[in-house]
Amino acid sequence: MSTQPKIKIAPSILASDFARLGEEVRAIDVAGADYIHIDVMDGHFVPNITIGPDVVKALRPHTKKTFDVHLMISPVDLYIDAFAKAGADIISFHPEAGNHPHRTVQAIRTAGCKPGVVLNPATPLEVLWPLLNDIDLVLVMSVNPGFGGQSFIESQLPRITEIRKAITASGRAIELEVDGGINFETAPRAIAAGADVLVAGTATFKGGESAYAANISKLRGHA
Ligand code: DX5
Ligand code: ZN
Repeated sequence: MSTQPKIKIAPSILASDFARLGEEVRAIDVAGADYIHIDVMDGHFVPNITIGPDVVKALRPHTKKTFDVHLMISPVDLYIDAFAKAGADIISFHPEAGNHPHRTVQAIRTAGCKPGVVLNPATPLEVLWPLLNDIDLVLVMSVNPGFGGQSFIESQLPRITEIRKAITASGRAIELEVDGGINFETAPRAIAAGADVLVAGTATFKGGESAYAANISKLRGHA
């Protein structure tokens, strides 16, 4: 879709060197990352454990870029304030992780962050519609959440297009982010389907620090 605004790239630090996390965040900032995508996993909602609010807080002084915090935890509401205080800008959650997704949206807004809703590959789009007018971002999972390095699930492309239509109809500035299996081959297809923010872990960090800038610009669609 040529009429779309500038594509944003959100490197997922899940694919970075965790022993040098601060340095890695500074490196992707300098390399042109728009958002820093932070995958929070609890070993309960998804079968992996990653980062908590203390790590987010420790990273905050390393960049001024938007912290795009993707919560894969259940319950969600209990931890919103901790992530907001740690420096999150956007907080996205999975509606399946709690009983009252609209309350969670309100809690994220009240905590001073932008709320995002995440749709797993099998989550019906109907879950999204009642929340659309109150959120700032929709995150479509193009893999099942839990791990980096998985393959892009094709069936998500028409869903991205359908959500893009609904966003346009809403008249609101809602970002449409796609997460999982994004690489140089799938990025243009996600963009063509209607995405304007691409999460990329493996594809950003491949080749080491000297490759980050070229990786990010290639994902954005620049040679
Ligand atoms: C998966 C995470 C993704 C993951 C993407 O649960 O939400 O953000 O890090 O990794 P790649 O880009 O390697 O598929
Ligand atoms: Zn993610």
